[in-house]
Amino acid sequence: MSNDFLTVIKERRSANKFLPNVEISTEELDDMFSLVKFAPSAFNLQHAHYVTVTDKALMDQLYAAAYKQYKVKTASAAIVVLGDTEAHLKAGELNEGLLHLGILSKQEYDKTVEGTTQFYEQRGDTFKREDAIRNASLSAMQFMLIAKAKGWDTCPMIGFDPDQVQSILNIPDNYVPVMLITLGKEDTSSQRPRGYRKPVREFVTHNSF
Ligand SMILES: Cc1cc2nc3c(=O)[nH]c(=O)nc-3n(C[C@H](O)[C@H](O)[C@H](O)COP(=O)(O)O)c2cc1C
Repeated sequence: MSNDFLTVIKERRSANKFLPNVEISTEELDDMFSLVKFAPSAFNLQHAHYVTVTDKALMDQLYAAAYKQYKVKTASAAIVVLGDTEAHLKAGELNEGLLHLGILSKQEYDKTVEGTTQFYEQRGDTFKREDAIRNASLSAMQFMLIAKAKGWDTCPMIGFDPDQVQSILNIPDNYVPVMLITLGKEDTSSQRPRGYRKPVREFVTHNSF
C-alpha cells in the first residue's frame, strides 16, 4: 500500500477479522506512538493514555470483557485508549520546560497554569469527562491512521465493559476507558464491503445549519 496520506485515509477499514499468530513488538508500537504524540489536545494537556496488551492471558481477559468479540482473540495487540479527567492538574508540569527554556516568563507561566486549571474547574466534572473523551478520541484516530500507514489494520471498539477493563488493567479512577483498538493484519478474505457513507450535502452545510 502507498504511504500517501490520502490513500491511507481511503484504505483504512475497521478490520472484521485478523490473521492469527501475527506478533507486533513493543518497539513497533512505540514507533507509532512517537508520531501519535503530535496529535492536538486542548491546552496541549495530552489527555490520552494508551495501555497496549500483547500478553495472551490478558488478551483472553479483554476478549471476555469485550463480550467475546472474536477479533480480540486473533489481534496482534489490543490497545485501550484512556482519557485523563485530571489532565488539567498537570498543566504546571507540562509547561515547566517552556519556563526553563525562557520561552514563557514566570508571569506567563503562572497565567497559563492558572487559566487552564480554572477553565476545567469552573466547568465541572461532566466537562472534564467529555474533554478527556474528546481529546483521547482525536489521538486514537491519529493512531489508527499511523498504524495503517505502517502496514497494520485496526478496529476501534466500544463494545466492552469499561469496569471490567479498568479492573483487568489496574487503571486509575481518573482515567475514562474511551475505546479499545484491536490491531493486527486483517484477514481480507472476510472483509465486508465499505459501509454506506452519506454524501457531503447530507452532513455538511455552509454558513448555517
Ligand atoms: C467509537 C467506535 C466504536 C466502534 N465499536 C465497534 C465494536 O465494538 N466492534 C466492531 O466490530 N466495530 C466497532 N466499530 C467499527 C465500526 O463498525 C466501523 O468504523 C464502521 O462500520 C465503518 O466502517 P469502516 O471503519 O471500515 O469504514 C466502532 C467504531 C467506532 C468509531
